[in-house]
Amino acid sequence: MPDKTKRPRIIAIANQKGGVGKTTTAINLASALAVGGLKVLLADIDPQGNASTGLGIGPEARKGGSYALLAGETSLSDATLPTTVENLTIIPSVPDLIGADLEFGQQERREFLLRDAFIQGCPADYVFIDCPPGLGLLTLNGLVAADAVLVPLQAEFFALEGISQLMRTIDMVKQSLNPTLNMEGIVLTMTDKRNNLSEQVSADVRGYFRHQVFETAIPRNIRITEAPSHGIPVLLYDFRSTGAQAYLALAAEFLRRAKTRKA
Ligand SMILES: Nc1ncnc2c1ncn2[C@@H]1O[C@H](COP(=O)(O)OP(=O)(O)O)[C@@H](O)[C@H]1O
Ligand SMILES: [Mg+2]
Repeated sequence: MPDKTKRPRIIAIANQKGGVGKTTTAINLASALAVGGLKVLLADIDPQGNASTGLGIGPEARKGGSYALLAGETSLSDATLPTTVENLTIIPSVPDLIGADLEFGQQERREFLLRDAFIQGCPADYVFIDCPPGLGLLTLNGLVAADAVLVPLQAEFFALEGISQLMRTIDMVKQSLNPTLNMEGIVLTMTDKRNNLSEQVSADVRGYFRHQVFETAIPRNIRITEAPSHGIPVLLYDFRSTGAQAYLALAAEFLRRAKTRKA
């Protein structure tokens, strides 16, 4: 019997910088957990819709998507579609989301639109919210709806500077809109052991953020880049690739950390 009182753990994947691996991490961490038997929902709230495309959801299948959900025009269950990955469902993005700041910006509960959509409950163990770049209203909705935020961080020169702005925003959200928001952790992405700068930045980030940084880093791997054009996660595209194995390891560490948090 499904436990109706159970609510999923909701995790926003956020970083105001574009191209750092948010969507890639959303797709592949969600898929790795789903393949392991957990029920996972991915909410794509980036108007670019890369998570939706990357999981094989074409424009014609998307209907109102996450826009209709935020607008209160549809229910969570009606907005949710199956994917090719067993146990993984998705609320796809639609281009209408581009106007969200303007369209919802004057509403009284503008930062709570996504959170409110989850109030009726959601039959998943985990929900991942793939946030757009920037710290606009959509990302705020992601942070307000979430229990915790997971930050993919590309191991490159300005990494630490960008993240301090994000940390300030997270603090601001905690102080005003969502006091129970936690830090799930930082995931280093696109690391390259042969590149001294990548190694140095990774060491700096670990030195500064300590236990907040996942031990598992995601290496640069061509299979990760190729998989989305086939509409499948890297796990299904090339299970043996270093990219697929890294996301499996990340999922295992994610679950271990969840266990120690509860203990
Ligand atoms: N570990 C990786 N190895 C190689 N390419 C990657 C890796 N992670 C992400 N990419 C590529 O980098 C680009 C940006 O990644 P993406 O996940 O879309 O970032 P974001 O969602 O933060 O904008 C994409 O083309 C993606 O395929
Ligand atoms: Mg993205």
